[in-house]
Formats: sequence, structure tokens, C-alpha cells
Amino acid sequence: MNNNPIGLYDSGFGGLSVWRELRRALLNESLIYLGDGKHCPYGSLDEQTIKEYATQSVQLLIDRGCKLVVVACNTATAAAISHLRATFPQIPIVGLEPAIKPACMSTRSGVVGVIATERSLKGEKFLSTLSRYGEGVKVVKAVGEGFVEAVEANMEESPSTEQKVRDVVEPIIAAGADIIVLGCTHYPFLRGVIERVIGKRDVRVIDSGEAVEKRVESLLDEYNLRAAEDNIPQMEFLTFADDDYRERLRLKAYDKE
Ligand code: DGL
Repeated sequence: MNNNPIGLYDSGFGGLSVWRELRRALLNESLIYLGDGKHCPYGSLDEQTIKEYATQSVQLLIDRGCKLVVVACNTATAAAISHLRATFPQIPIVGLEPAIKPACMSTRSGVVGVIATERSLKGEKFLSTLSRYGEGVKVVKAVGEGFVEAVEANMEESPSTEQKVRDVVEPIIAAGADIIVLGCTHYPFLRGVIERVIGKRDVRVIDSGEAVEKRVESLLDEYNLRAAEDNIPQMEFLTFADDDYRERLRLKAYDKE
């Protein structure tokens, strides 16, 4: 039993899509969400720089007493997860990976689309998962150009965002994909627009939120870290940007609940 908080970290707002999953499923767990904000977007930064930001972030969450940390960012996971686990062996650290495996196992057309940041698509883990599960499946990769910026600006519903989504999604569908994997934690905030663009076509959109939540639960059990049933959960939001950004994080977390 352990009433300390679970930490989540992302470059900005994106990891809130994971925060929502944890909050929904783990009713008595306290959560601390760190949205860097100062260095967002990470998508095209070099690996070393992301490692430094990620190390500083996880250190802060550990200093705040977190018993487990979720790197709720595919890009930071791709660049830094091994480094983080080696640097902070004292707590379990969960990373985010695009849901390539379930997509490749359930595609009927044999074509799967993956939208992620440039850095994630270059990640070693992504490439090895692809070669492990992608045999016989055509995987169409695309960078979600401007997606992270649209979510950070709360512009999900604007016509210009819909055009950006259309530019990325249409070629994936034209290539024959029946599943589109959202490989960045910002993108679930665009799910409504993505599904609107897909319309009546038989294409499914999947993300990693639920799988990560399940992974967190199994680690809480494995390490005996679950909070007591009568624990009153506290929600805290941190950032390396300013107070205004922190308030926007909080509002986005509870938006449209
Ligand atoms: N949420 C991050 C991810 O999952 C966004 C990356 C970025 O900041 O560009 O990849």
C-alpha cells in the first residue's frame, strides 16, 4: 500500500489524454501531471536534448514523491526511456508506444497507418516493433504536421486544423489502411476531427491510452504500490513554463468531462 502520487510527464498537453485514462480507472490514486510547456514541441528535437529534458522532468516528479512515473509522451519515450530507467532504478517507469501490435494483428485490409512525430518514427523501439509485428502488413507512416501545435493552442475544432488532419489522413486511407494508430499522446485530442475526416469509411482509430492504464495497474500490483481504498486523491499540475500555462493544463485536463 502506498498513497504517494503517480507522476505523468509530457512535453505539454498531450499526456493529459493518458492522465484522463488513469483518473477514470484509478479512483483513489493521486496524480501529479508535469507538462514541460517551455520546450514543447519535442517532435523534431535531437535525441540528446530530449534526454536532458526528460531526465530533469522525471527527477522533479521523484523529488515530489512519485511512486511510479508514466512518460506520457511517445517522443520522450522513444528518445529516453532506457536512459531514464537506468538513471532512476528506484521506481517503475512506464513508457508510451504506438499501438502497432494490436493494429497489425487486427487489420483486415493488411494496411495500417501510423501517425506520430518525426522523432518517434525514427525511434529504435518503433522500428523493432514494426519488424516484429509488421510482417505481411504494409505500415504507412506519417508525421502529424502541426497537430501538436493545434492541441497546444486549443485549436482542435478550427477549419485550419481540420485541413491539416485531412492532409495527413487522406493519403493514409488512399493507401488502403483500415486502422490508423495515433502514435502521439496529443493526437487523441484530435480524435473528433480525425473521425469526421474519415466519415463513413470503414477505418478505425486506435491509441495507447487504455493499454498504458492497464500496464500501470499491473505494476502497482507487482510492486504493491496501490493507494489505500480510503485515500482522498489529490490532483496537481506542474510545468516549466508559466502560471498561465499551468492553469491551461488544469482546464484542459477537466475539459468536456
Ligand atoms: N505528446 C508528445 C508525444 O506523444 C508530443 C511530442 C511533441 O512535443 O512534439 O509524442
